[in-house]
Amino acid sequence: MLLRIPEALSPAELQRVRDLVENADWVDGSVTAGTQSAQVKNNRQLPEDGEAAREARTLVLDALSRSVLFFSSALPRRIYPPLFNRYGGASNAFGNHIDNAVRTHRASGNHVRTDLSCTLFLTDPGAYEGGELVIEDTFGQQAVKLAAGDMILYPSSSVHRVEPVTRGERFASFFWIESMVREDERRRLLFDLDMSIMSLRQRTAGREDDPEVVRLTGCYHNLMRMWAST
Ligand code: NI
Repeated sequence: MLLRIPEALSPAELQRVRDLVENADWVDGSVTAGTQSAQVKNNRQLPEDGEAAREARTLVLDALSRSVLFFSSALPRRIYPPLFNRYGGASNAFGNHIDNAVRTHRASGNHVRTDLSCTLFLTDPGAYEGGELVIEDTFGQQAVKLAAGDMILYPSSSVHRVEPVTRGERFASFFWIESMVREDERRRLLFDLDMSIMSLRQRTAGREDDPEVVRLTGCYHNLMRMWAST
C-alpha cells in the first residue's frame, strides 16, 4: 500500500526543520548505502550525529507521534531515526534499488527490519525540476512528488528510485519502520477496518455503546492480537 500523509509537519515545524538542515554541513550519501545501492546513489546526506540532524530528527519524530494516520497505517514497532538528504547540482539522483532489509543504527546497535519506507518532502515542488520518487511494485509504477510537509509511506520491498533533479534542490527526510504487523496485506486490512470504525463512530455521533461499533472494534483488536508482535 502506498499512503500519502498530508501535512505531517505543521508549517512552523517545516520551517524550523528546513532552517536546520539547509544550514548544516552535508556529506556524500553513500555513507548509509548497501553494496548495490552505493553504485546508483548520487546524493548528499546530513551526518546522523550532527546537532542539526539531532534537532530536526526530534521534530520529525514528535510530528509522527501525533499522526493518527501514520500510526494506523504503519503500526510502528521501531522507527529508524529519521535521516535527511538533498538532491541537486552534481549529486542529483538515486537509481533503482531496494532498501536493505535490516538497518542497524550505529549509535545504539539497534536493528530495524524495514517493512515500510518513508519520505517526508521538505521542499516546495515548484522550487525544483525532476526529483520524483518513482516506486515500482505489483500495482504498477507511481511517480511521487508531494507538497512540502507531506509524507509518503510505501512497502520497503518495492524497487524505487529518485529521478534526477535538473533545477533547484530537493530536501527530504527519509526513514524506515519495522511494523508490529509484518505483512503488508494484513496491515492494509487493519488500516481499512480502523478507518471504517472511525467514520462509523462519527456517524453514530459518539454513541460508544452502538453494538456494531463495539463488535467491529473488538474484531480490530482481536486481529491485532493474532497478528501483532511487540
Ligand atoms: Ni531507497
